[in-house]
Amino acid sequence: MDRWILRSLFLLCAFAVCGCGGGRREGNEAKAIVLGYSQLGDESTWRTQNSRSIIEAAGKAGIKIMFDDAMQIVENQIKAIRSFIAYKVDVIAFSPLVETGWDTVLGEAKEAGIPVIIVDRMIDTADDSLYACALCSDFDREGRRAGEFLVKKYRDSAGPVKIVEIGGTLDSTPAIGRFEGFRDVIAAHPKFQVIFSEDGDFMLSKGKEIMRQVLRRYGPKDIDVLYSHNDDMTFGAIEVMQDAGIKPGKDIAIISVDATQRIVDYLKQGAVNCVVECNPNSGPQVMEIAKKITAGQKVPKRIFIEETVFDEDSDFSAIADRGY
Ligand code: AHR
Repeated sequence: MDRWILRSLFLLCAFAVCGCGGGRREGNEAKAIVLGYSQLGDESTWRTQNSRSIIEAAGKAGIKIMFDDAMQIVENQIKAIRSFIAYKVDVIAFSPLVETGWDTVLGEAKEAGIPVIIVDRMIDTADDSLYACALCSDFDREGRRAGEFLVKKYRDSAGPVKIVEIGGTLDSTPAIGRFEGFRDVIAAHPKFQVIFSEDGDFMLSKGKEIMRQVLRRYGPKDIDVLYSHNDDMTFGAIEVMQDAGIKPGKDIAIISVDATQRIVDYLKQGAVNCVVECNPNSGPQVMEIAKKITAGQKVPKRIFIEETVFDEDSDFSAIADRGY
């Protein structure tokens, strides 16, 4: 399913809910749960799969979904959440673009008695009564896994090992966790030096732009490792490396986060050295949580999505098709 079809699907979902009067009970019909979902955007292959997982899981669970794509604009997410409150949905779920700035609108949801599920990224708030459950990736662990791979790969090298980092969206949980977790691990080994770090907003075009900038400043021999916070930015950076005659994965070692099929293929070909998984398939778990909350059952406040890591030493035959 490409992005255009997926976008059409979002519209259909919203229409299906509005057009049939949402989850309101008619006659003896059982009342379907209505879930308002604010997705932060469609900036990456990961995000497209995450949206697909949410929408498909809602369909399978018999949950009516109002789905909004905020196009990477916080104000759009706040507007969408306010419209879900006005519509009196049963549950609100959202993937916050950045960590801060949510207290007011979540306070309004609380006031209206609508439970909130935070999905994928976390929020920074002093009041954890503003949400019922947070189902997120452990981004700090992802960053640590990237660092641990480097410690393993360069265990016999005296260094220095010079690292270029392309980060995610500024002030977002994945960018913060992947930055900090990585540094926590490499800090114990002074031979690792991050010589360049810039935010690429999780977008392929920015990965390209930043890699071009890097190669204007440094020769390929001055860079040992590229650590990129997501696959799309890695794809952009690889394209620039190849245009410059640099062999990705060989002249410059590459660590990428997400684990889309295309990056796993690169890993198998030796063009990428380590792939840290970030799991986008949270849809079924979100629906299960929504059902429990609306049935008045207790759910854990914080749940981490299961994730793994693949590297050049992994048994490639054991890596299942990613499906996206
Ligand atoms: O929040 C998850 C991150 O957001 C994924 O790593 C990235 O691809 C996406 O845009």
